[in-house]
Amino acid sequence: MFSRITTVAFQGIDAVPVDVQVQIGPGSVQFSIVGLPSKAVAESRERVRSALLSSGLALPAKRVTINLAPADLPKEGSHYDLPIALGLMSAMGLIPPEELAEYVVIGELSLDGRICPVNGALPAAISANGMGKGLICPSQCGSEAAWAGNDIAVLAAGNLIELSNHFKGNQVLAAPRPSAPVSRKSLPDLSEIRGQESAKRTLEIAAAGGHNLLMVGPPGSGKSMLAKRLPSLLPPLEPKELLEVSMIASIAGELKEGQLSDIRPFRSPHHSASMPALVGGGISAKPGEVSLAHNGVLFLDELPEFNPQVLDSLRQPIESGEATIVRANHRVSYPSQVQIIAAMNPCRCGYAGEPGHTCRRGDRCSADYQARVSGPFLDRIDLQIDVPAVAAQDLIDTTHNEPSAVVAERVRAARKRQKARFKALGLSILTNAQAGAQLIESIAEPDAEGKKLLYAVAEKKGFSARGYHRILKVARTLADLEDCESVHRNHLAEALSYRQGAELLMA
Ligand SMILES: Nc1ncnc2c1ncn2[C@@H]1O[C@H](COP(=O)(O)OP(=O)(O)O)[C@@H](O)[C@H]1O
Ligand SMILES: [Mg+2]
Repeated sequence: MFSRITTVAFQGIDAVPVDVQVQIGPGSVQFSIVGLPSKAVAESRERVRSALLSSGLALPAKRVTINLAPADLPKEGSHYDLPIALGLMSAMGLIPPEELAEYVVIGELSLDGRICPVNGALPAAISANGMGKGLICPSQCGSEAAWAGNDIAVLAAGNLIELSNHFKGNQVLAAPRPSAPVSRKSLPDLSEIRGQESAKRTLEIAAAGGHNLLMVGPPGSGKSMLAKRLPSLLPPLEPKELLEVSMIASIAGELKEGQLSDIRPFRSPHHSASMPALVGGGISAKPGEVSLAHNGVLFLDELPEFNPQVLDSLRQPIESGEATIVRANHRVSYPSQVQIIAAMNPCRCGYAGEPGHTCRRGDRCSADYQARVSGPFLDRIDLQIDVPAVAAQDLIDTTHNEPSAVVAERVRAARKRQKARFKALGLSILTNAQAGAQLIESIAEPDAEGKKLLYAVAEKKGFSARGYHRILKVARTLADLEDCESVHRNHLAEALSYRQGAELLMA
């Protein structure tokens, strides 16, 4: 008695087909799983045996061998229980094999025969659709899998008996529906922030050009509040981006009730986060925060409090847009195109530079604190600003507060201009922040007045090659926000002002 079932193994966000081959034959009574199973997969034996027993099906007293092919591909996770159980049921003649051949199967079993939810239902469903098959998955994963397309047949079952009845024709399982997407109304709005006009302006520039931003200011000045409002300014995810973001969330088990959303991700890991938590890894090579923030925002609040080594491990994924996790016998990578927003107090006591405040440790207080963030990390941040305490008048006066929707419209227009410009050059990048050195020099050539200003500043202060390109990038975004094709003196002057914090920090 032989049968085969298709399931998948996750490699990064790809779900690659795996063949579950089941053989029930003569020999000593035994149940073995071969084909590079991880510990969780090897333990599946006990769960499958019990679940079948609880569903009124005893395994025949024969030799049972399960092979997971291809044998050299590592198999991790607990979603192999259900394909193994269905393979056994098919080999025992309880489910017609030709019907099962139409499906990819994923699901974990509990000892009483219930099918428990697993991560990765969306990529599994997309992969199944690509193979021209349907998906059999746990009932809780149905609404997530249904997003893979209108034409995909999804069987979302609560237990083994339901599935067996479905194939016998006694009980038909209804096709699950995709759950409603998350509404943008749930986002916090920029209008809730009083005053802080220049910080809001910088946030708009960061949103428009995809620039990394560092805010330095005393506690309670609204830095965290500002950062949390960035997703409401960013344009919705494009369909391809949405798919990538949702697949990563699905594999990490972060898609709440199968709800997809076109809101850009916003992740704010705590400063005590470990390297695997940020970059990815751990027992089952899960995506880290930098990948969960893919196509969105990674907010590093209280930047100097992060472990410097952990922070530096973020540099590679940020630069390459891909986080690679090396395992004993293979490597996995997850996309990680993120916009970094960081916030910090100017010193450990929090109030250095505030009028009327002197740190007990004098200038050392802020110097020591700021030195905890490495130069190369700061070098990747285009916009660096001071956020002073909110002025009392601003707290009282509630008249002028622009809502997010109005700012988002300006951001959308500026992004459209960038996209069109890059498209005309045959490039697939979307924002000025992503442009390389040569490219930015060609698209942000300052006019004569602008060049004069740059010469004057260079003579007085000088700037590094990186610093120079950063100024051009920000100036390009400022011109785009004004719908201005050339970069003028005023754009450069404003861009230069966002580097002052940087010069102080780097000194
Ligand atoms: N500009 C502001 N407008 C309205 N409320 C503010 C403002 N700044 C701070 N607050 C209030 O102060 C609290 C602390 O702000 P927060 O963003 O956490 O400050 P920070 O991160 O700079 O320490 C907020 O929850 C909010 O109630
Ligand atoms: Mg804060």
